[in-house]
Amino acid sequence: KEVEHVPTPGSKVFLLRGGPPVAVPQDRAGFVGAHKYSGWEMPLDLGYITHHVGVFGATGMGKSRLVRALVEELAKRGLRIVIFDHTGVDYAPYYDNVVKSSEIKIPPNVLASVIAKMADLPWQSYGEYLEIATMTFEGQWSKDAFVAHVKRTMKRLNARDTTVERVELFIKHFIDPQFFADLNSRGKTPADVLSSRQPVAVDLSWDRELAVKQAIVASVIEEAWAEVRRAKEPRPTVFVIDEAQNYAPSDWAISKDAIETTAREGRKWGLSLILASQRIAGDIDPSIRANLGTVFFSRVTAPTDLREISAYLDLADVNEGVLAQLQPREFFVVGLMNPLRRPVLLKIREVK
Ligand SMILES: Nc1ncnc2c1ncn2[C@@H]1O[C@H](COP(=O)(O)OP(=O)(O)O)[C@@H](O)[C@H]1O
Ligand SMILES: [Mg+2]
Repeated sequence: KEVEHVPTPGSKVFLLRGGPPVAVPQDRAGFVGAHKYSGWEMPLDLGYITHHVGVFGATGMGKSRLVRALVEELAKRGLRIVIFDHTGVDYAPYYDNVVKSSEIKIPPNVLASVIAKMADLPWQSYGEYLEIATMTFEGQWSKDAFVAHVKRTMKRLNARDTTVERVELFIKHFIDPQFFADLNSRGKTPADVLSSRQPVAVDLSWDRELAVKQAIVASVIEEAWAEVRRAKEPRPTVFVIDEAQNYAPSDWAISKDAIETTAREGRKWGLSLILASQRIAGDIDPSIRANLGTVFFSRVTAPTDLREISAYLDLADVNEGVLAQLQPREFFVVGLMNPLRRPVLLKIREVK
């Protein structure tokens, strides 16, 4: 038989029969695929979900399918799972329980950020006015009604005439009246989303504006934080954020604070993240990616990405040359969920 896989010269070779002995407690084990060369179904230690997961690889390598396999395993353990589906094609069609993002209410403080962003009004100078205006607004939403209200609010707070004028002008110029009109049909609260049947996919394709999509993600995650603060006990929840470059980028985004807080402090409260994106460096804020305890990676587009992972996870002898040869559905897994604590190349199981 022909040799199909040529090991890198100098690399160690292990002979596996039925897989190496690994200790993953039965109730924590999950399976998303088998070791590429031996066919050994490697158990992942899902208990480490609270240390967060990153999935990286070029488009078409199978990130979203891998995430769905992982979601299935986590759902079996009874975890609450909220999937944010950026495009509405990767998840929404495959789950029974789907919420349209355009049905979800945006809380006033988050709405103020959305308006500032859309109207191009710097938060430092205008944020507080907008926040007070969104929090005190009553009645049917419309662009005219909100502009009138924000003007009254700012005058009452002794804002300068030029400042008031700028807010009026920029909101009128930059924000579509439909945006305000649509606020009236947002009838579901973020709490409703969290309490719906699991797992739930939030179809973000119903909102066109990225700022609004980010606001929905922020609102739902923030509601989970409000829950744990009220209960003062963990509320195990997994937030799946695919196309994460849109939600947790290096520069500012409405959803970034909520994601960053969860990445850094969510563990204690059972709040976990699964982030997927094409690139690592650049796509995901450094303080967020440094908190990804487990990373799945396939062929990546930039060599800097590999260096990025190797900065905090042991990649042994995995190099760019190895990655360049990976086929779709093939992912290395490194980090806490991997019981071998060295990179293992998995062929992800068939996900229909
Ligand atoms: N585990 C899998 N099982 C079955 N088909 C897969 C799997 N992974 C990838 N594919 C195929 O490759 C395509 C791209 O996968 P996808 O998960 O959407 O990639 P990515 O999210 O990385 O762009 C899928 O539409 C499917 O046809
Ligand atoms: Mg995808």
